[in-house]
Formats: sequence, C-alpha cells, structure tokens
Amino acid sequence: MSFKNFDYKGIKLAVGIHTGESLAYAENEFEVLDDDVYNVTYPKSGTNWMIEILNLIKHKGDCKKSNRVPIYKRSPWYETAGSQDKIKKMESPRILSSHLPHHIFAKSFFKSKAKIIYTMRNPRDIIVSLFHFTKILKIFEPAENFQNFIEDFIQGEALYGSWFDHVKGWMQMKGDSRFFFITYEELIQDLRGSVVRICKFLGQELDDAQIDLVAENATFKSMKENVMSNWSQLSSDIIDQSNGSFMRKGISGDWKNHFTVAQSEYFDKVYQEKIKDININFFWEQ
Ligand code: A3P
Repeated sequence: MSFKNFDYKGIKLAVGIHTGESLAYAENEFEVLDDDVYNVTYPKSGTNWMIEILNLIKHKGDCKKSNRVPIYKRSPWYETAGSQDKIKKMESPRILSSHLPHHIFAKSFFKSKAKIIYTMRNPRDIIVSLFHFTKILKIFEPAENFQNFIEDFIQGEALYGSWFDHVKGWMQMKGDSRFFFITYEELIQDLRGSVVRICKFLGQELDDAQIDLVAENATFKSMKENVMSNWSQLSSDIIDQSNGSFMRKGISGDWKNHFTVAQSEYFDKVYQEKIKDININFFWEQ
C-alpha cells in the first residue's frame, strides 16, 4: 500500500492529512467534553455509515437537519490537521470521528464521561474496500497487486497501522459502560435493531416513527443518492469518483469475489494466530 507517510508512535499516518503536531495535540491536549460521542473505527469499517446514523439519531431522523453539511464535515476526525480548529467552534453535543488506535487516543477521554461507539468489520472486506479506495482517493498510489496488498495489511503497513492491534487495543474497553461495540455485519443484518441499541446506549429516546426514519435515511441506497453523504462534494483532486465510488458496494462478504482459495487459507491462518488472545466471538464468524 503506497502513500506518503510518517510514523507516529509506531503507526503509519498520511502526509497531507496528519502532522506530527496534529497527532501530539490529539493525544495530549485535545479536550474531550463529557457529552461528546466518538465514532471510532479502523478505516473502511463503516465510519461514514455510523456518522450518518449518529447524526440522524441526534436529529430524530430528520434528514434535512442532519444533512446540512457534507458528511465528512458533520463529524470530523479530531486527529487530522485540518479539523482541529473547526472542532473548537463546534456546538455541543459533538459527534466526532477517529481512526486512532487505543494507545494514542486522547488522554482526556479516559478522565471524561464521553462515549465511544466502536464499529468493527470483517478484515477481509476491509482489505477489499481499501484496495478499491486506493484507486480513487488521491493520497494513495492506486494498488494493483492484491496479494501484496493483503500482505501489507497483515504487516500493519496500512494507514493507521495494524487492524489486529487496533481491535486488540480497543477491546480492552469491552465491558466499560462508556464503550459500545458493534459490527458492520450487524448493521447490514438488522439496521433498525442496531439503531434501537445505539439509541439505548446513548440514552436517546426516539419513538418508533423516528427510528424508522433514521433507518430509512441511513440505507446504502439513501446514502449513495444523497449528495451530502456520498462524498461527491469533494474535488476530484482529493477523490476521483469517475473511476469508482466511495459508496462502492455496501455489502458483507465481497471478499469472496476477490480472495483466491490460497489467499483465503493464508489469511485465515494469520488471523487465527493474531487474534487468538482476544476473547470475542466475531459476528461474521458465526
Ligand atoms: P465498500 O467499499 O465495501 O462498499 P468507511 O466509511 O469506514 O470509509 O467505510 C466505507 C465502506 O462502508 C464502503 O464499503 C461503503 O460502501 C460502506 N458503506 C457506507 N455507507 C454504507 C451504508 N449505508 N450501508 C452499507 N455500507 C455502507
């Protein structure tokens, strides 16, 4: 996976998006507020989907209120260089996003009452989604060789480092009342039911019709057609969607169309080895 990068505490970050200063600020100085909600993911795990869901919940399903600005501005990533001044001016309660691993997350979070929603996705589907994403997002050199791409992912050579370490780090918070984890696959299988569970975690009381609205406005189809949610407002210097789309397929299991049998067996072996000390039954394995 090729992109201009630098290392921050063992994690690969992107020149042009992050700086050493933005990371140090995010980790050491960023002020987490008690009513903040953090949408935390490893890239390509459904981050934008969760942004849409959380903002719709905040506006009780009202798409017009929720969609006043493009999705990447609604819940900015607090570790990126371009967003930190804007976040200071955001009204509370804030919904913020982050791809940071647990060990370099904002220190002030751990002393706060703020909440985290951590969305996980089958890493095989993340690999496929990311592989296609490198062809449209301009910070990347378009990836051509899928085998090398899998290997880079396994070695933690991807943007934001190793998926395995990300999951292991965040799973330390399992059982904490401020931490809710959900999978992309659960959202696919039961979006409405997932919205109900998220509302409960957030202490947000929506009636049945409002929950219906959240679920309707957060489907793949709605988001793909919504210019405020499909990243079409970004210039082609940043993302070139003539060659593919950000809202690509929105399914689980697409990896079966990309991995050869040998690649799948190899990944399974590595996966078992790297994940064995995490005591979790991942939803996609059931
Ligand atoms: P695919 O490339 O597999 O289609 P992120 O927001 O973390 O970058 O994740 C992007 C992935 O989430 C893409 O996956 C995208 O299509 C998918 N996605 C975004 N919104 C979705 C929705 N409403 N339903 C299902 N998948 C969605």
